[in-house]
Amino acid sequence: MVFKSIQEDISAFMARDPAARSKLEIVLCYPGFHALVLYRLSSALWRRRFYLLGRFVSHLGRLLTGIEIHPGAKIGKRLVIDHGFGVVIGETSEIGEDVTLYQGVTLGGIAPSVNSQSQVNVKRHPTLKNGVIVGSGGQILGPITVGEGARVGANAVVTKDLAPGVTAVGIPAHGVLPKDRTAAGQFVAYGTPAEGCPDPVLATIENMRGQIAALQDRVHHLEKAEHGTADGDAAGADWAEWRDNEIHEVKVASMGESGRRS
Ligand SMILES: CC(C)(COP(=O)(O)OP(=O)(O)OC[C@H]1O[C@@H](n2cnc3c(N)ncnc32)[C@H](O)[C@@H]1OP(=O)(O)O)[C@@H](O)C(=O)NCCC(=O)NCCS
Repeated sequence: MVFKSIQEDISAFMARDPAARSKLEIVLCYPGFHALVLYRLSSALWRRRFYLLGRFVSHLGRLLTGIEIHPGAKIGKRLVIDHGFGVVIGETSEIGEDVTLYQGVTLGGIAPSVNSQSQVNVKRHPTLKNGVIVGSGGQILGPITVGEGARVGANAVVTKDLAPGVTAVGIPAHGVLPKDRTAAGQFVAYGTPAEGCPDPVLATIENMRGQIAALQDRVHHLEKAEHGTADGDAAGADWAEWRDNEIHEVKVASMGESGRRS
């Protein structure tokens, strides 16, 4: 069981780090992997109520790797901590499966030193759902939830829940559109709501893009019904031809009338 989970961890590093050349390299040279193995040991001790020993093993892990994972944190399968120096994972953090963290990430409390007694044994660190990626220096603070597949940009500070699939950057973190704007348009046009977006301005723009796309669709269908062609360009050309003919006929008619008048 333990061996299988270690094998899965190694494969996850191979899959997610383009610099990894062999499994042996990961076992020997990856501090993120070493920290994970020591975390599994410290966590087992913690769950068996060997609190001091658990903390001590976690401290050894920190000395060796520069990665601090509290033994009380709950971590799912295939976590990859790439480079890892300066990562801090607090006591009540929860991490799902297939999560990736880079160096300098903090999963911390909002104000641990204020009224610290009242915070003992209270959830004060974030929950990261499956497939989350947190870029280097990302700070995720408080008992918030980062939804499945969400991405936090390098050096972003997140203090509010993030919806699944959102990419958030900046301080405070706000949603951004992906580079592929066409895909973003389709995303909205086919009805995926923008309410998951944490930035109200971006959410409004997304809604407007959705409405424009719906209107474009409607115009296209009307043109198709009017001119009987599925091709948008052809429909446009037909429309232009029809409009020119109409103008021409009006002109001819008015000339005829004026001719008759003169
Ligand atoms: C957040 C991230 C995942 C977004 O990647 P992406 O989906 O390809 O997004 P894009 O590059 O299209 O960027 C979208 C917008 O966000 C901006 N942006 C991207 N990352 C940002 C960041 N960390 N901080 C501030 N703005 C950022 C881009 O400039 C772009 O803005 P624009 O639309 O005004 O041009 C990525 O930029 C990132 O920060 N990854 C972390 C990588 C890391 O930590 N590497 C360490 C390896 S050692």
